[in-house]
Amino acid sequence: MRSLIDIRDLSTAEIDELVRTACDIIDNPGKYSEKCHGKKLATLFFEPSTRTRLSFEAAMYELGGNVLSVSSGSSSSAAKGESIADTAKTVSCYADIIAMRHPKEGAPYVAAANASIPVINAGDGGHNHPTQTLADLLTIYREKGGFDNLTIGLCGDLKFGRTVHSLIAAMSRYAGIKFVLISPLELKVPSYVKKDVIKKNGIPYTQTTDLVSVMPELDILYMTRVQRERFFNEEDYLRLKDSYILDTRKLETAKPDLCIMHPLPRVNEISVAVDNDPRACYFKQVLNGKYMRMALILKLLEEAKK
Ligand code: NCD
Repeated sequence: MRSLIDIRDLSTAEIDELVRTACDIIDNPGKYSEKCHGKKLATLFFEPSTRTRLSFEAAMYELGGNVLSVSSGSSSSAAKGESIADTAKTVSCYADIIAMRHPKEGAPYVAAANASIPVINAGDGGHNHPTQTLADLLTIYREKGGFDNLTIGLCGDLKFGRTVHSLIAAMSRYAGIKFVLISPLELKVPSYVKKDVIKKNGIPYTQTTDLVSVMPELDILYMTRVQRERFFNEEDYLRLKDSYILDTRKLETAKPDLCIMHPLPRVNEISVAVDNDPRACYFKQVLNGKYMRMALILKLLEEAKK
């Protein structure tokens, strides 16, 4: 059964196909409004979420399907000690496809190994978040017209930020990519991402703690929240949480066609004044996420028929 656990589960051709489908959905929504008639999506969210869960659910409704939802671990049998494997087998009896978010890295992988329906990783701990990356990719495509020859600045919590790990994995397959990794020393990109993804693909990269000095070279600036829930102690979080705050002054040296992204939720990383800058793309990402999740649900349900 085809699932999506890691963004690298999709080939470059499949990502292109998802982008094409999402663009077609944007242009012709009526064509898709009954495609999932009679199908059910189960959203199993064992960690907080606004955008990801609601966009999956909105996506399924816009495809004419229905939704079953667990919106917190404490309201499901997980609180009684049920294993991920048993939960996956159970939900396979009720639904046609699962979207799962879990605080433990690898939980959606275990679910996929035990489910008889496709499982989509909607964020596993500090590991991966492939469907946020699909939202990011559609945004980059619509803003930049393609994926090649981009200098991408990733700023903030690059250690625990799962959206960053998945975006690096996705962008590492394109030509002429350069990463600028901007973080406090304590929150650098994990060495496994650097070794297995960036270095393995021969992608040029620089690491810095200083956002302002690299601003002029960036085509994309991907801001992230410091991931409070993954810290071992609150003091470290409080010390690091406001390491980077993007404001209009810092943008003075940026390219006129910079694309400013953020997976959201924002805490303090981008001042609200930046929202009025035409280069701010983070609310476009939210909408693009729904279209890409529609395209993904369609693809996985189609493949499940085979
Ligand atoms: C992200 C996540 O859950 O990893 N949120 C999202 O899905 N858009 C980013 C975050 O929580 O900081």
